[in-house]
Amino acid sequence: MKNLIDIMQLSVEELDELIATAMDIIADPAKYSQVCRGKKLATLFFEPSTRTRLSFEAAMYELGGNVLGFSEAQSSSAAKGESVADTIKVVSCYADIIAMRHPKEGAPLVAANNADVPIVNAGDGGHNHPTQTLADLLTIYREKGGFEDLTIGLCGDLKFGRTVHSLMSAMSRYKGVKFVLISPEELRLPDYVVDDVLKGRNIPYEECTSLEDAMPKLDILYMTRVQKERFFNEADYMRLKDSYILTPEKLRTAKETLSILHPLPRVNEISVAVDDDPRACYFRQALNGKYMRMALIMKLLEVKPW
Ligand code: NCD
Repeated sequence: MKNLIDIMQLSVEELDELIATAMDIIADPAKYSQVCRGKKLATLFFEPSTRTRLSFEAAMYELGGNVLGFSEAQSSSAAKGESVADTIKVVSCYADIIAMRHPKEGAPLVAANNADVPIVNAGDGGHNHPTQTLADLLTIYREKGGFEDLTIGLCGDLKFGRTVHSLMSAMSRYKGVKFVLISPEELRLPDYVVDDVLKGRNIPYEECTSLEDAMPKLDILYMTRVQKERFFNEADYMRLKDSYILTPEKLRTAKETLSILHPLPRVNEISVAVDDDPRACYFRQALNGKYMRMALIMKLLEVKPW
């Protein structure tokens, strides 16, 4: 595999290998500290980011490599009208691997078709975000010990939330997984995800608008931010932004073993009072993202610590 554009490019066995590598990095980071010596990662971010870009960069530094790139479209030649294809052909001359985030769905695929080096989709519009899914999977693995027989509640902006789409695709391959889709009517999961992932794979699911009703059944609660930047008007965003706010009171009916995930950034959808609950995994999840990106960079560059 040369690129990671969609999480489904990785087989379950390949995901297991990435998780095994990440667990080994956690156990013995020194073993990996020089594996990417002399290699360069370019981070091309045409949209805002904190975790994804910085964890990619930290990942490359911790592998002994170097990093170059830009963090906003305005500081690149995109502001002068350069196409994604041309930008990528040029950056391919300077870097060994490229992580790219873009507001347009499909832009990383266009990049992959024009690159001589591996391309990683670091988020494309409201479509996909495969490396966030890698972070989510390592978190589920570390918190739950495996991926089977889990009831997963996804709550918030299921329409524009690209992390939800990629996570559902990945989890749909494990036995005994069920989804509870919790959203306002206007932010329901897009039909293409319902058809491809749920109906296409015969996965049990239910849709509801009440987080309280869903809570007692859940093994995992994946909270999401309402994606302001993808709305067509401010009034709709203002009306929907606080549809769900997770508080300690709402967790009273939850399982003791619940794991609360959130890709972050959080706006209002999880009260800070929840942060001290041992079931809150979202900051551990952000750390897991760095380890999985290290494992992914090694896989795409075909480097090993021996
Ligand atoms: C997510 C994203 O960019 O889609 N953030 C992230 O990468 N951790 C979620 C979000 O922005 O709400």
